[in-house]
Amino acid sequence: MRKKSLLDFYKMKEKGEKVAWITAYDAPTGAFAEAVGMDMLLVGDSLGMCVLGLPGTVPVTMEECLHHTRAVRNGAPNTYVIGDMPFLSYQTSTADAVLNAGRFLKEADADAIKLEGGVRIAKQIRAIADAGMVVFGHIGLTPQSSGQLGGFKAQGLTVESAKLMLQDAIAVEEAGAHFLLVEAVAPEVTKVIHQRLSIPVYSIGAGVHCDGQLLIVSDLLGIFEAFTPKFVKKYANLAEEIERAFAAYRDEVKSGVFPGPEHVYNMLKGEVEEFEKIKDQL
Ligand code: KIV
Repeated sequence: MRKKSLLDFYKMKEKGEKVAWITAYDAPTGAFAEAVGMDMLLVGDSLGMCVLGLPGTVPVTMEECLHHTRAVRNGAPNTYVIGDMPFLSYQTSTADAVLNAGRFLKEADADAIKLEGGVRIAKQIRAIADAGMVVFGHIGLTPQSSGQLGGFKAQGLTVESAKLMLQDAIAVEEAGAHFLLVEAVAPEVTKVIHQRLSIPVYSIGAGVHCDGQLLIVSDLLGIFEAFTPKFVKKYANLAEEIERAFAAYRDEVKSGVFPGPEHVYNMLKGEVEEFEKIKDQL
């Protein structure tokens, strides 16, 4: 399978072909996604909550993001992989933004990077794009600034908020971003953003009027149980399945059912008798 490029995604937009993508944090998930032809993979800083057991994305570090992005790339060598810039890896200056974005490409073999914010990080988007990298903007419910948003709250529900969303979207495109991700924004607003922008616009919890959909893999598989946003559709309940398997294993170890004769490596023919003879002299 050939890895898709920026141009392939632009062609898909032209043809009205939707892009399906998920987050991934490790090589096996990357490999499963690649096997079914997932269009792209985001190694989101949501790994803080989904994998590292942190309360949010703010504590996630560059090293953690690079480590997981590398793992996903190893599992999905032919899939478009997006690295997610963690909190304070780009807000501080355009120089920091370019250097840290570049680390995703150099050290983790990512194809593109994503960063949160509209108008207020337009300079960083411009600098990263000018350095030759593919940039995903991300507006709406931006988890790294959820403190300012008053929590994990849907955006664009009022005319005032809708105006800000549109201004952010336009700023992202004008700064040179190649894609825009819109999170938890009212679909009526996403529709206008999609009509107004020329770059592909993707949604996570922002409705159907756009060029594709993203879901967090742990939500989709039913393995993140702390909370489930309204926009999530669970396609499996792996939490139940994992707990069932763990409990069955625990019970079989305790009752002596596991391991069975089929799970061991027996001594070679003739060796057991020989061993029996000498074992007491050892
Ligand atoms: O970190 C992440 O997975 C994200 C999504 C919530 C869009 O940024």
